Amino acid sequence: MLVDRFGRVATDLRVSLIDRCNLRCSYCMPPEGLPWLPRQELLTDDELVRLVGVAVSLGVREVRLTGGEPLLRPGVPALVARLAALEPRPELSITTNGILLGRDAAALAAAGLDRVNVSLDTLDAARFKQITFRDKHAEVLAGLAAARAAGLAPVKVNAVLLRGVNDHEAPDLLEWALVNRYELRFIEQMPLDAQHGWDRARMVTADEVLQLLTARYELAPVSDPDRGAAPAETWQVLAGPGVTGPGRKVGIVGSVTRPFCGACDRVRLTADGQLRDCLFATTESDLRTALRAGADDAELARRFRVAVAGKKAGHGIDGPDFVQPDRPMSAIGG
Ligand code: 5AD
Ligand code: SF4
Repeated sequence: MLVDRFGRVATDLRVSLIDRCNLRCSYCMPPEGLPWLPRQELLTDDELVRLVGVAVSLGVREVRLTGGEPLLRPGVPALVARLAALEPRPELSITTNGILLGRDAAALAAAGLDRVNVSLDTLDAARFKQITFRDKHAEVLAGLAAARAAGLAPVKVNAVLLRGVNDHEAPDLLEWALVNRYELRFIEQMPLDAQHGWDRARMVTADEVLQLLTARYELAPVSDPDRGAAPAETWQVLAGPGVTGPGRKVGIVGSVTRPFCGACDRVRLTADGQLRDCLFATTESDLRTALRAGADDAELARRFRVAVAGKKAGHGIDGPDFVQPDRPMSAIGG
């Protein structure tokens, strides 16, 4: 097992497939893009499957594919099929901006993908372009519908609210998600953008999201002894526009103001084969170099264990000596 010195067990591996993206979300990367990782540094499919296989042998039960935009990597459905053949078979999910789901959702589902999270911050095409610097709103909506049609349920939608930009849309987003049978989660903006433009005072907090929603919705906290490592705090949507029956939910991920580090079960592998024990880690374990130098599975497993054992208690965003990691979110994986 992958255990750290606080007794947390890593069972959820996030794998970034590529650092490139076809959007430029302002809370993530600058409009001109970033210096992308050189191709030869990206793990090949064979290398990636091997490393995930080692992780699975160490108790990893969930594998989430992320980016950048993971579907910009060629051949993701074939990769999913290979990961689904690992034993014991991990749960497989993907976090995507949705643009290419119209093309790929059916193939991904057929390959064994279990679930999908799609990022969408606004219902307005012009505002989408303002936030992402690309005119792709219709493609995302079509991608979401394709995922639902492919049976990748429940389709989850991640939204980041930006003060004065899209924060007034919170209840509209919820109504839209309820009507379309998507599961909506709001995520607090974290200091992970390449431009280092994050400003705590401008962040829309979890408490504020709740206030924005309760203007139009009756919500009840889901008292959740089972929250476990799930970062989203879940609210039951009892009444409001689009509520047609029981069982509807909305999540709020208070990564900054309500950190869940104490229950964290995650570990991350970057597209260039660096193992990170936290989104905010400032050190990495270079599995790619070890692998390419001929390390066997036992040696790779040892490196996994050492990396996870050293995990810090928390992200420390509020601490006086917090430093944002050098790697931006797009090169870590969400
Ligand atoms: N803060 C919060 N969420 C972010 N995401 C990307 N950058 C940030 C950030 N700085 C979200 C994306 C996507 C997921 C991978 O993380 O919107 O849903
Ligand atoms: Fe791309 Fe995701 Fe970053 Fe937006 S948040 S630019 S979709 S990697």
